Amino acid sequence: MIKTQRLLLREYTMEDFPALYEILSDPETMAHYPAPYDQEKTRHWITWNLENYRFHGFGLWAVVRRDTGEFIGDCGLSMQCIDGEMLPEIGYHIHKTYWRQGYGSEAARAVRDWAFRNTPYNILYSCCKYTNLASQRTALANGMHKVKEYPDPKNTISCAFAITRQEWEALQMQCEELPAD
Ligand SMILES: CC(C)(COP(=O)(O)OP(=O)(O)OC[C@H]1O[C@@H](n2cnc3c(N)ncnc32)[C@H](O)[C@@H]1OP(=O)(O)O)[C@@H](O)C(=O)NCCC(=O)NCCS
Repeated sequence: MIKTQRLLLREYTMEDFPALYEILSDPETMAHYPAPYDQEKTRHWITWNLENYRFHGFGLWAVVRRDTGEFIGDCGLSMQCIDGEMLPEIGYHIHKTYWRQGYGSEAARAVRDWAFRNTPYNILYSCCKYTNLASQRTALANGMHKVKEYPDPKNTISCAFAITRQEWEALQMQCEELPAD
């Protein structure tokens, strides 16, 4: 379980299905995907993450508001094919009611910190369709920079953003140097 100022990231359970389906079946939320998810794809999303927890020790986690306990989306790490290579990727989906309130980047930063502390990966990625500006801005807010654009049958063109362990360590040092409130 990962805690941030406002959020809790925890493993999925099948009980999250209705709340997740509301997000993944929404055409506006899924505008940069080939299509919104149906019930079967949503169920598969949860089982894929349950398998990932067992196999890799990570996956996308349910994102829950600490003040209300409400499930508002997911965020986490998974192995994704990025321009032909399987690489660790930070992904996120937030319910549209809560867009642009900093939840996506708060969750993504927590996953980035967790991944550098708990996995041996020296570079973390976030990828999205070239049209998905919200996702790209969230990657930038997570300390990443754009590393490439590449043809992708699912997205026409995908953009990959990345942060190295060294860059992350430099960010941590900057935070430590800030005067305390
Ligand atoms: C991507 C997503 C998770 C961002 O969540 P969020 O909670 O709104 O993100 P934040 O409020 O933390 O915003 C992060 C940055 O993105 C920017 N942003 C958010 N929505 C935006 C939009 N529609 N257009 C342009 N920028 C946007 C914010 O201004 C912020 O930028 P800043 O740090 O420069 O101020 C959310 O838009 C979403 O769920 N989208 C649909 C699912 C999806 O496409 N996921 C990514 C798949 S690759």
